[in-house]
Amino acid sequence: MQTRTLGTTGPQVSALGLGCMGMSALYGEADRAESIATIHAALEAGVTLLDTGDFYGMGHNELLIGEALRAAPAARREQALLSVKFGALRDPDGGWSGYDGRPAAVKNFAAYSLQRLGVDHIDVYRIARLDPDVPIEETVGAIAELVEKGYVRHIGLSEVGAETIRRAAATAPISDLQIEYSLISRGIETEILPTTRELGIAVTAYGVLSRGLISGHFTADRQLAANDFRALSPRFQGENLQHNLNLVEALRKIAEQKGVSVAQIAIAWVLSRGDDMVPLVGARRRDRLTEALGALDVTLDEADLRAIEEAVPADAAAGDRYPTQQMSHLDSER
Ligand SMILES: NC(=O)c1ccc[n+]([C@@H]2O[C@H](COP(=O)([O-])OP(=O)(O)OC[C@H]3O[C@@H](n4cnc5c(N)ncnc54)[C@H](OP(=O)(O)O)[C@@H]3O)[C@@H](O)[C@H]2O)c1
Repeated sequence: MQTRTLGTTGPQVSALGLGCMGMSALYGEADRAESIATIHAALEAGVTLLDTGDFYGMGHNELLIGEALRAAPAARREQALLSVKFGALRDPDGGWSGYDGRPAAVKNFAAYSLQRLGVDHIDVYRIARLDPDVPIEETVGAIAELVEKGYVRHIGLSEVGAETIRRAAATAPISDLQIEYSLISRGIETEILPTTRELGIAVTAYGVLSRGLISGHFTADRQLAANDFRALSPRFQGENLQHNLNLVEALRKIAEQKGVSVAQIAIAWVLSRGDDMVPLVGARRRDRLTEALGALDVTLDEADLRAIEEAVPADAAAGDRYPTQQMSHLDSER
């Protein structure tokens, strides 16, 4: 397995991480046994980084990962590095009601996550969205206290902009920024990426397949459950969807010429952006995982990169990456 290092202070991780969110929430029903088999197959293939959030299925995702780790051989369990997000507040009916980054809340979230995961420490801990009522210094400071006590190893960030990154990094060492980055979500390139690079912070990129949209497997006639994130995502609606799927077809031509899949081109493109990039792929089935891992063997030369750029120019996508109300929670979009 190829490896990359999370910034100047973070751990060495597999060049691809496994994002476990879709195994519990947001993309419709998932098969529990297949999800666990996918985590095991990822560990077996040498994947070390597993990403979750305490709010993915209100604890469901952490319990699932805990179960998968307990059932894995000891050597595989020990290689797993857990990246956990906290801070999102949920309702019993599944609703979202804001963020809590107060120091006492941070410690409370961590205490429950350690229990659910069945581990004595979390490898990278981060608030999912900036709490607008709590200075980032206080939230990061609370995680730094957890680092001192050994409950957390490294501090990460998620979906924050350049100024917040600087303030966080002035408070404590930051290993990585988790943020959406893909062929059709390139907003970080202007200010955020130069800032993380200046400060020696890695990027753990999510939505590399734009939640399946640019995987090559998504079709316009796919029926989405009402609680599927994509049922409300602007990029998956009507004309936007058709426009975006046309981009995928342009990408498919390049993939076919190279004898690889569309998803592999999309993942390989993120990997090609720099050694500070670690794509988190949202595979929840073993066949999808195998496809994603295949991207590690895809080399994109200058001609490939030019052809990809022509097929999918930087601002080619139609529709925002989140619904309007959720866009307003993104410090990274300010
Ligand atoms: N920090 C944040 O704000 C934030 C936000 C969102 C996600 N995340 C993290 O990032 C992880 C990845 O995000 P994501 O799941 O949205 O990203 P993604 O990898 O862009 O999308 C996953 C979707 O792509 C589909 N897919 C098709 N082919 C695939 C393949 N070969 N490999 C993997 N997926 C394939 C899957 O479909 P099927 O399963 O339907 O086949 C799944 O619905 C999440 O699991 C989560 O841990 C973080």
